[in-house]
Amino acid sequence: MGLYEEYVTKNPAEGVAGLSGRDTDRFKFKVPTLRNVELTYPYFHDGAYWKLEEAVDVMARLQLGRQLEKDEIGKITAFMKTLTGEQPSFQLPMLPPSNNNTPIPQPFAKK
Ligand code: HEM
Repeated sequence: MGLYEEYVTKNPAEGVAGLSGRDTDRFKFKVPTLRNVELTYPYFHDGAYWKLEEAVDVMARLQLGRQLEKDEIGKITAFMKTLTGEQPSFQLPMLPPSNNNTPIPQPFAKK
């Protein structure tokens, strides 16, 4: 994130670098699916953008180095809205009950 212009945010998340510690992983974020993107606001890892038009403008400037015209943003946004369909529902996995001796999974275990 931020190929042509830096993504300015007060959010401290630094992407994969937060796990790997590698500087080359700074601001490496998963590209979210655009299926149902109309329903999955707010956008980006910090949820800073609530309008799809704004997210498209940010993407074009930061990831493509392009300033899109208002009608271009409108057309891309209109296309994205065609990706709206049934929102899947997810069943959360049930964990077995734990006690104080239950091992904590790595890599989150305290040393
Ligand atoms: C005009 C072209 C593009 C459009 C319309 C577009 C649209 C979007 C939208 C709407 C999101 C937010 C999704 C969400 O948070 O649910 C997003 C996220 C993202 N896109 Fe794009 N994108 C474009 C080009 C690109 C390119 C060229 C790259 C990579 C080189 C890219 C990489 C990413 C990444 C890494 C994220 C997640 C960023 C974060 O969470 O901070 N996008 N894109």
